[in-house]
Amino acid sequence: DWTMGAYREEMIRKIREQVGDKKVICALSGGVDSSVAAILIHEAIGDQLTCVFVDHGLLRKNEAAEVVGMFREHYNLPLIHADESELFLGELEGVSDPETKRKIIGKLFIDVFQKHADTIEGAEFLAQGTLYPDVIESVSFSGGPSVTIKSHHNVGGLPEKMGLKLVEPLRELFKDEVRALGHELGLPASFIGRHPFPGPGLAIRCPGEITREKLEILREADAIYIDQIRKHGLYDEIWQAFVAILPVRTVGVMGDGRTYDYACALRAVTSVDGMTADYYPFSHEFLGETATRIINEVKGINRCTYDITSKPPGTIEWE
Ligand code: XMP
Repeated sequence: DWTMGAYREEMIRKIREQVGDKKVICALSGGVDSSVAAILIHEAIGDQLTCVFVDHGLLRKNEAAEVVGMFREHYNLPLIHADESELFLGELEGVSDPETKRKIIGKLFIDVFQKHADTIEGAEFLAQGTLYPDVIESVSFSGGPSVTIKSHHNVGGLPEKMGLKLVEPLRELFKDEVRALGHELGLPASFIGRHPFPGPGLAIRCPGEITREKLEILREADAIYIDQIRKHGLYDEIWQAFVAILPVRTVGVMGDGRTYDYACALRAVTSVDGMTADYYPFSHEFLGETATRIINEVKGINRCTYDITSKPPGTIEWE
């Protein structure tokens, strides 16, 4: 793409000009925005950039390994894999209130990021994948509604706290332009087209208390669901799809035995911006086949439901 090629060159020049010979740190989430920002900055300043990938133990199946592998091996980008799952899961033990869960995760994330960032001596800049709509939103939000539905998890406020200057190469771009830039930078199409994934991760797809057992079951079920969606060629039609594991066990029958296992809910929505959403009208065949696979293949689940709530009145995530 000619435009993106020119933009890429222009941004690289600007990043070099802003940063000089100083060091930059970046919180890499594995999402498209922070990934594109990190790759672009790495092109500009090479190993003056260090990325920190905070693994809170609430990621999907194989996710940490895939993200870390791609950035270290394919992009050769200096990356700290901060495996802090013990810390996060420990602090979340016994907590079932949704807002409390979000606040614990948000606070720990900042603490952990700061701890790892402190090991990078002489860092003066913090890189963020802020997009144009985020810039607009943070302005209009100050005069916006005062009702908080969910405390969103992000790293806003970090730079001032840490005394860092911001590098935000995507500030002028919309989401589709970031995708085009990602393509230009050689990111695989399957990565660029990934559904959004919330900062608190699987925590908000596990209503009630989070346990390692439930997370393991959830990961397996979610992987099968996404596999089904891809196999049926539906992935790109859907804004977000995931499984939630319900905090209830129900009775079932398998072979000639009684089971008493968790129930799960499949969620899939279409949306333009995540603010409103409609549930996705899967065929009964698809739903039946998927439920059968999950119940047969995932030990710990014996019942599968499909969530047909649109937003509003529901939210996309369960918490
Ligand atoms: P809800 O559940 O509020 O979600 O309808 C709307 C969109 O926002 C995502 N989401 C989050 N993203 N940090 C994020 O980065 C968060 O704390 C968070 N909570 C929800 C959600 O996945 C959906 O795309």
